[in-house]
This record gives sequence, C-alpha cells and structure tokens, in this order.
Amino acid sequence: MSDYMFTLESHLTGEQYRVVTQVQKAAHEAGLSLYLTGGAMRDITGGFPVRDLDFTVEANPAKLIKSLLKTSGAEVVSEDEKTRSTELKFPGGVTVEIAMARIEKFAKSGAKPRVAAATIYEDLLCRDFTINAVALSLNKASLGLLIDPSNGMGDIERHELRTIHNYSFYDDPGRLLRLFRLKVRLGFNVDERTRSQVENATEAGMLEKISTESLGAELRNMAREAAPHDLIKVLEEEKLLELYSPALAAGKIDYATLMKLQKAHQLVPFGVDFEIKHLPLFLECLFEKLNAKDKAAAMKAAGITRGETGALEKLAPAAKKLDKALQSAKLQKASSLYELLVSTPGEHILHLAVFSGQRIVQDRIKHYFQKYLPMSLEVTDEMVAAAGAAPGTPKFKKLKHEMILKHLDARPKKVAPPPEPPPPPPPMSGFARGSAVRRS
Ligand code: CTP
Repeated sequence: MSDYMFTLESHLTGEQYRVVTQVQKAAHEAGLSLYLTGGAMRDITGGFPVRDLDFTVEANPAKLIKSLLKTSGAEVVSEDEKTRSTELKFPGGVTVEIAMARIEKFAKSGAKPRVAAATIYEDLLCRDFTINAVALSLNKASLGLLIDPSNGMGDIERHELRTIHNYSFYDDPGRLLRLFRLKVRLGFNVDERTRSQVENATEAGMLEKISTESLGAELRNMAREAAPHDLIKVLEEEKLLELYSPALAAGKIDYATLMKLQKAHQLVPFGVDFEIKHLPLFLECLFEKLNAKDKAAAMKAAGITRGETGALEKLAPAAKKLDKALQSAKLQKASSLYELLVSTPGEHILHLAVFSGQRIVQDRIKHYFQKYLPMSLEVTDEMVAAAGAAPGTPKFKKLKHEMILKHLDARPKKVAPPPEPPPPPPPMSGFARGSAVRRS
C-alpha cells in the first residue's frame, strides 16, 4: 500500500473510508478515472478533520452517480449541470462531492466561467490555492499516486496559503473571501505575494465584482465554520463585512454572542451524524444587533432565499419551545433526554446553547453532547445485526434505537473492590527501616 493510501485509511472515519471504497469500486466498474481532490486531500495531508469527500472524475460522472444511487443508499443533495458536479449524502451522514475534471475560463471577473472537460492535471491548475490543488489517484494502475502540479504539499507543510496563478482573484473575486475563511479555519499564513495580489485586486475594484451568488455561497460556507467569532473578526479587520452590510461593518457585531456560538460548536462531538442547518443559527448570531431594515438589506446582498429567511424566522420560536421542554421534570432518565434531543433539529439545540439563560437547559444539553451521544455510538450495527435485525430495514433502525435507550439507562456494572493488600512483613531485629542508610 502506498504511504498516501495508508494516510487516507488511517485519517478518515470508518464511515468515510467505507464511502471511499464504494465510490472507488463503482468508478472502476464504470471504467472511469477517479481522484480524491480539493479540501479532502488538503485536510487528510494537513491532519485536519475531513468534513466532505471531494472526488474528481476525468469524464462525465453521471454513470458513476447513477450506479452509486442504486447501490449505496446515497441521496442527491444538490446538482450543478454546468460543472457536472453532484453533492451526495451517504447513509451515516458522509457528504461527498463528485465533479467532472474541468477547465474554467473566465471571460469577465466574477462572471460565470465557460467550462470544458479536462485532465486532472489541467483541472488542478485552474483552482484557487495550491493547498487545494492536490489529487490522489484511486485508479488501479496508479493507486496512491499523488498529483501535485503547484507543490501544494509543500505549502501544507509550511502552513501557507498561496494562489496558483496571478489572476486567481481576477477570475473569481469570491476567492478573496475564501482566502480569509481558510486562513482562520486552518490557522495558515497568507504568503507575501498572495497578500500583494489581494491588495492589487482590491484596488482594481474586484470586491465590487463579487456576484450576489458568490456572496451567498460564502455566507453559507462561513455558517459552517467552527470558529465564527474569529472569522468575523478577521473579515472585519480586512474590511470585507461591508460587502454584506454597512451596519455590520460600522461595528454592530455582537462578538459575545458569536463567541458563545463558537463554544456551542465545540460541544458537538466530531464524527457523529448530527443534522444541523447552520445558516439560520449563524445569521441569528451575526445579525443580533442589526435592526429589521439592516437585516433585510444584508440578506438581499447575499441573495438569501425565501426558504432560508423562513428558517431564520422560525428558529427562535422553535428554540423557545425546546427551552421549556428541556426544563421538564420528566427528563430525569438519560434515555428520555436522548429521545427528545436526537429527534430535534440541531440548530434548535445549539440556539439554546447560545441563548438559553436556564442552567438546567445548559446542563442537559452538555450531558447530551458529552455523555449520551458518545454512549449511543457504543451500540454498533454489528450488535444490532447480532440481535436479529437485517441491516437497512426499518426493523433494524427501530431495534438499534431501542438498544441505545436501554444502554443509556443501564446502570454501570459495579466493579468488585480490589483485594486487600497483604500485611507488611514483621520488623527486622528491632532496627527501624532506613536507619541502616543513615548509619555512618
Ligand atoms: N475551488 C476553487 N475556487 C473556488 C471554489 C472552489 O478553485 N471559488 C476549488 C478548490 O480546489 C476547492 C474545491 O474547488 O478545494 C472544492 O470547493 P469547496 O468544496 O467549496 O471547498 P473545499 O476546499 O472542499 O472546502 P470545505 O472544506 O470548506 O468544503
């Protein structure tokens, strides 16, 4: 096995690695060349947790996606016809993007690019930053081969963010926002030349060329970040918040609330399938000090959809209901609290972690994340199958849930006390121990 295949296997969660092998098998059967790319490669080689798996195929991946939908239980989350990229969600919560290797030609800054099929090498050279332009071959003949035309691996080691070419921010000015988001997330430095490219692009008016679509996409990406407080601070320093709202840029940011949100994110254990709509929660915290008019203007600037606005409006009332439910005396048993929260949308729970003033609510949320959710993972699919249910069936799901509830309420087995230590040996001929040491 090549070193990189080993790194892949040891760094991914079990569920993620299973998905990689599934996609690899389906691509092989479809006769397609498959590579692991983008953020997934950056995070694996840099030692960061991998959120999504990004695959690139050197052809139209439609056949591969069709076969995966048929065999794996994956569902389509979104599709982009133009770039032939599809986002999928696999059972167990693993999210995957499968895209066609492509060249993107930008006729005008910030405009939609012309897309054409390409080799993996050409595709990598069109990307934003070197650290995002590394690919790992998952093909039989070259399994584990690393393709790294811009020395992204060197920059990952040096912790540096560097554009691949001088026109990166002119082609896609939205990358100016991406740069600082990645800087905060990864804790990397911006290389000196890239810094001057930022300044040149800003002076050339590239910020005004960021499309509403791009602003919206970045806002949705920001909402998923684990350190929203630190990110907004950097965006404010870089004077990038005015792209969304002059009021925010004028200092109407509630950093205390954003810090609470940052801490709430840290409560969620990594690797659990925790369903959450990040955007409404993030906007609620970010817009805390804005009046209705400024809020509406900021949402318009980012092209926030009606559905997303609706989700934001419903969030606080739904969280209020949960706040009440979580104070109930009926939630003494671990299983009762787990049952309530496991079926509650994640954003309602984290909203309370940020905003609830009730001690009992905060404690119960902490118990859920730090004790009961990790304990629920101790009930494995193998244990449920051994109890007689066939994986993938509704009976399996029901039985697993029941087994988890039982496991949560089971009292920890009493451990037998250790045996009494043997009595000390009798003193030797009247000398105190140690006196021999002091003898001169
Ligand atoms: N990309 C790019 N220019 C952009 C957006 C994306 O070149 N404006 C490329 C990068 O190579 C990136 C890849 O497309 O790694 C996938 O994009 P995306 O999924 O948005 O980002 P990730 O880097 O995977 O980051 P995340 O972990 O936030 O998903």
